[in-house]
Amino acid sequence: MAADVKARIIRAGLGLGITAVLAGLLLWWRPSGLYLWAKAFHIIAVISWMAGMLYLPRLFIYHCEAEPGSRQSETFKVMEWRLLTIIINPAMVVTWVLGVWLAYDGGWLSAGWLHAKFALVVVLSGVHGFMVRCVRDFGADQNRRSQKFYRILNEVPTVLMIGIVLLVVLKPF
Ligand code: HEM
Repeated sequence: MAADVKARIIRAGLGLGITAVLAGLLLWWRPSGLYLWAKAFHIIAVISWMAGMLYLPRLFIYHCEAEPGSRQSETFKVMEWRLLTIIINPAMVVTWVLGVWLAYDGGWLSAGWLHAKFALVVVLSGVHGFMVRCVRDFGADQNRRSQKFYRILNEVPTVLMIGIVLLVVLKPF
């Protein structure tokens, strides 16, 4: 295995380990107001996730215009890869972990609005997975989809986000 891959795995393992220990300490200590703190960080993670999910298809639209192998195309590849791995992926993990914890700790598990929200978040996560595939296709100069396709893809997270936020704030059922 290449040395830089090993170093990355060690760094990722260390990061996960430290996060797990800190999360364990927090749950054991349970400071008052923990629920509201978790909700605040859930919202921060949601904003980061959505910012990335709305910007990435925009990059795909511009990337379609760049000649494969050109300097511009290579720059887009780096931007897409960094946006995905530094912002979008970690933000999704934090959103999910804190969201599930809020649902459990807040006693919301049997609430109808949560089930509907959960279904929309699963679809949103599927769109996320599809975008990972698009980044890989662009990375290998194998994109076959049109600009129009990415313009439509750009709207999907927006529509899902509106549904999710209305459900959690209004709790209609
Ligand atoms: C599996 C994923 C998720 C779960 C289980 C989940 C669950 C929850 C729960 C239980 C709350 C606390 C509700 C309350 O205290 O009234 C909450 C708050 C919130 N969630 Fe999520 N969530 C998830 C993902 C998301 C996503 C993807 C978004 C937006 C796109 C989102 C947006 C929000 C917002 C804006 C609040 C604050 C609502 C308020 O305080 O009125 N959540 N979430």
